[in-house]
Amino acid sequence: MADIKDPTLAPAGRERIEWAAGEMQVLAQIRERFEKEKPLDGIRIAACLHVTTETAGLMETLAAGGAEVLLAASNPLSTQDDVAAALTEQSGVETFAIKGEDNDTYYKHINAILDLHPQVTMDDGADLVHVLHTQRAEQLTDVLGGTEETTTGVIRLRAMAADGALAYPIVSVNDADTKHLFDNRFGTGQSTMDAIMRSTNRLIAGRTIVVCGYGMCGRGVASRARGLGAHVIVTEVDPTAAIEAVMEGYRVMPLREAARIGDLFITVTGDTTVIGREHLELLKDGAILANSGHFDVEIDKVALKELGTGGVRRIREFVDEYTMADGRRINLLGEGRLVNLAAAEGHPSAVMDMSFANQALSVEWMVKNHASLDKQVYPVPVEIDREVARLKLRAMGIEIDTLTAEQDTYLHSWQQGT
Ligand SMILES: NC(=O)c1ccc[n+]([C@@H]2O[C@H](COP(=O)([O-])OP(=O)(O)OC[C@H]3O[C@@H](n4cnc5c(N)ncnc54)[C@H](O)[C@@H]3O)[C@@H](O)[C@H]2O)c1
Repeated sequence: MADIKDPTLAPAGRERIEWAAGEMQVLAQIRERFEKEKPLDGIRIAACLHVTTETAGLMETLAAGGAEVLLAASNPLSTQDDVAAALTEQSGVETFAIKGEDNDTYYKHINAILDLHPQVTMDDGADLVHVLHTQRAEQLTDVLGGTEETTTGVIRLRAMAADGALAYPIVSVNDADTKHLFDNRFGTGQSTMDAIMRSTNRLIAGRTIVVCGYGMCGRGVASRARGLGAHVIVTEVDPTAAIEAVMEGYRVMPLREAARIGDLFITVTGDTTVIGREHLELLKDGAILANSGHFDVEIDKVALKELGTGGVRRIREFVDEYTMADGRRINLLGEGRLVNLAAAEGHPSAVMDMSFANQALSVEWMVKNHASLDKQVYPVPVEIDREVARLKLRAMGIEIDTLTAEQDTYLHSWQQGT
């Protein structure tokens, strides 16, 4: 039986799902085809994803393709309770997710969807795959394959594959161009700033914002913060990413220097203890800390609690104010969990349209091709990636040129020079 906060929230959830669907035309076309062709007929899918309006569209697409689907949250704070209710009450997708659930409940929910004995796993961060491999290994033979949504999950899965520990093939949806170039950059950029503005109501213009990590997500966050008038400082550990940030016009410096001058800090590295005790000791009074990386390990919350001997209070929803022994106040947003989903609604639907089109088509591909695949992490097939881009352009009413025969020959030849 599903485990949700309140089934009576279903009608409100349905309206918001419909609103999101209006921006998800690529997924809608896939759903239409799935309804006719039933490519997932009888396939049992366990999905561990952020329970949002866009995820609802994906779950309903898989169900339209004939799959039996159960959904659990991929983060304790990202669930939209009205969406969980609408999926459970109206779509036949039993959902196990309650916003604010504790860690025990989070893992109880993951185990509940594994009781389905899934043939396909769909993950965002690889917690589902991890529980399956470490605690329920006897079920691994049921599984044909899986998909993974985010950078951090892909890193974990590649480590499993390198150790020979991965028991079935998984498609890295994150690595599709039509996923990370848009979702990670434009999605995380906009929704992270949205969450910070909603939860703090602070003016961004004229403030110094420190973005830790200049990968796909960091590029998006830095550019949106600059667009709002902030002075943006980037911190990095990768020399190439750092040069790129410099040439984009950002100041780049070590975090221990930036710590003294930043008003707002945003971590998006996928790494651990990026803002550690040594940095917390240097922050200005009133500094705000937010994380948009996958796990709540980027800001050292243990050190923050230990240093906050003057007490902690929830001064606004999603804002915890820690007072240091010397009187400085440091504000942590969304308990250090990915702020765009904890304190706002996650990515806009238009980018999730492409991410989840890749998910749906990758599941279909996995079901068709699993027998010939190894226990490895596979990229999204390039034809799927390009098809998603083509469909998205068409949905946006944008046409592009095609190569002439002469150009095609030229681009495939090596004889012609000066
Ligand atoms: N909030 C969201 O909705 C959302 C969406 C997509 C991805 N993510 C997550 O965001 C994180 C980043 O994803 P990405 O796609 O940008 O990854 P990425 O690999 O493209 O970029 C990460 C960057 O962080 C840098 N880095 C690593 N350790 C660092 C440190 N200690 N200090 C400064 N920089 C450091 C790396 O050099 C790299 O350039 C991942 O955890 C990913 O799963 C979150």
